[in-house]
Amino acid sequence: MKFSVPAVVGLALAGLIATTAPSASATTTLAAPDIPLANVKAHLTQLSSIAAANGGNRAHGRAGYLASVNYVKGKLDAAGFTTTVQQFTSSGSTGYNLIADWPGGDTNSVVMSGSHLDSVTAGAGINDNGSGSAAVLETALAVSRAQLKPTKHLRFAWWGAEELGLVGSRYYVNNLPTADRAKISGYLNFDMIGSPNPGYFVYDDDPTIEQTFKSYYAGLGIPTEIETEGDGRSDHAPFKNVGIPVGGLFSGADYIKTAAQAQKWGGTSGRAFDACYHRSCDTTANIDDTALDRNSDAIAYAVWSLSGAS
Ligand code: TRP
Ligand code: CA
Ligand code: ZN
Repeated sequence: MKFSVPAVVGLALAGLIATTAPSASATTTLAAPDIPLANVKAHLTQLSSIAAANGGNRAHGRAGYLASVNYVKGKLDAAGFTTTVQQFTSSGSTGYNLIADWPGGDTNSVVMSGSHLDSVTAGAGINDNGSGSAAVLETALAVSRAQLKPTKHLRFAWWGAEELGLVGSRYYVNNLPTADRAKISGYLNFDMIGSPNPGYFVYDDDPTIEQTFKSYYAGLGIPTEIETEGDGRSDHAPFKNVGIPVGGLFSGADYIKTAAQAQKWGGTSGRAFDACYHRSCDTTANIDDTALDRNSDAIAYAVWSLSGAS
């Protein structure tokens, strides 16, 4: 018996598993792009160079942080984003959030994606959190390359002073007029997504966002686990605390990978997901390319599908 897949389902599956760009036609919606790993890694190389040129880190209050903001901002401005640098003060130093809006879409329904751009003072912070910052940047640049016209409005953010206690993201949420909070249909957070001994964790918060990421990984045949420990540990927390739906991805920090986790994901049991967490060895060598590639593609998939672009 011939098994026929409804056209729309077939298209969705093709979008999930395609390794080359699916051909678009006038009658079909656009599938999310394959985010080029090489581009994400090129951003990490730049962040590494920025740290090296500025005393070895990209921490709040240090020159390497503002240089990181200026690098990301330059790429976004050249790609047609409307960027805003929001200043705040923490521990006696000026901090900066970078916000980038993609013109168009319904501004009463905003899909926001963010990552913290600051490192700890110990090192360059390439997995924590160059990884999320580079992947969100490259997703934004892919939006521009596609000249995407989503139903919802797209906003991207790079937070300052996360490592001092979610300072930048809390400042943003606290200074967002109450009426604007309700306009954010979801906030997606990406903090550590290229851990060298990776796990595949999906935040267990908003069901729609969670299911979007789970569907992406199901399409790759890769099992995920839910992330709940991070509830208060990254920049989604200030959003969640005021009732904004949140979600995100995480590949693990200083917790130890179990035997069961190594069984399903590979890597090394009895060893931390990121043994260089908050250490000087969090360099460009401290990245698992496969995890970074999959998570980058998952971000694009979520941004496209949650904004009504596919
Ligand atoms: N936010 C932490 C940091 O930047 C990393 C982290 C630890 C984390 N546990 C988490 C992030 C759980 C997301 C979810 O140092
Ligand atoms: Ca990719
Ligand atoms: Zn950190």
